Amino acid sequence: MQIFGVDIGGSGIKGAPVDLDKGDLAQERHKVLTPHPATPDAVADGVKQVVDHFGWTGPVGVTFPGVVTDGATIRTAANVDDSWIDTDARALLGERLGGLPVTVVNDADAAGVAEMHFGAGRDRRGTVILLTLGTGIGSAVFVDGVLVPNTELGHLELDGHDAEKRASSKAREDHDMTWEHWAAHRVSKYLAHVEMLFSPELFIIGGGVSRKAHKFLPHIEGIKAEIVPAQLQNNAGIVGAAMRAAGR
Ligand code: BGC
Repeated sequence: MQIFGVDIGGSGIKGAPVDLDKGDLAQERHKVLTPHPATPDAVADGVKQVVDHFGWTGPVGVTFPGVVTDGATIRTAANVDDSWIDTDARALLGERLGGLPVTVVNDADAAGVAEMHFGAGRDRRGTVILLTLGTGIGSAVFVDGVLVPNTELGHLELDGHDAEKRASSKAREDHDMTWEHWAAHRVSKYLAHVEMLFSPELFIIGGGVSRKAHKFLPHIEGIKAEIVPAQLQNNAGIVGAAMRAAGR
């Protein structure tokens, strides 16, 4: 069975039909740049371009980088335009896509669902936390494989700051930190804080940096939980969005 998945990110809007039996893209993904400002209208146009590229006419799952309730309503917008707040994204995108059924889900929750089913969290029980370290920090918390949605652990306070401003991949780039310094000081401290609160068995590190795990994972210190990179890497959001749209 195939469902279309779209991942709305800080730099790109990416999508492809997803093979839900394999947990993989059924075709090579198509990407357009995220418009700036990333208003609902401009982003909806980007989503349409991606879906139209494949001539897709079935259900569509879409990730969003903020809190999403009931598969539809946007509640926060830390790294996209504020005018998203309280937007019914399911209605907006559905209308822009000519009436296709749309489900919207938080980006980290989507990536987590895909990793738990097809990737690094497969068959893992207990508390598992996926953290995406990208423009912001996204989180997905699972207990015995069941998601607690919209956990927003990227906005915990760390050293008097919003944690994602200290430990995201963007923070590393903005402050010209080496991989080693970022991992040993920023990421380790952040993970220690999350570990103190939740005592997970496993951390899965997702987002674009999961491809570069060898550069920073060895420098993370003082964490008891196992730490592994996400396996679906940058496609986890697309796959998870399609899974949510299929009701999984
Ligand atoms: C948002 C989260 C999102 C994360 C990653 C954070 O700023 O609040 O909802 O999952 O960024 O995009």
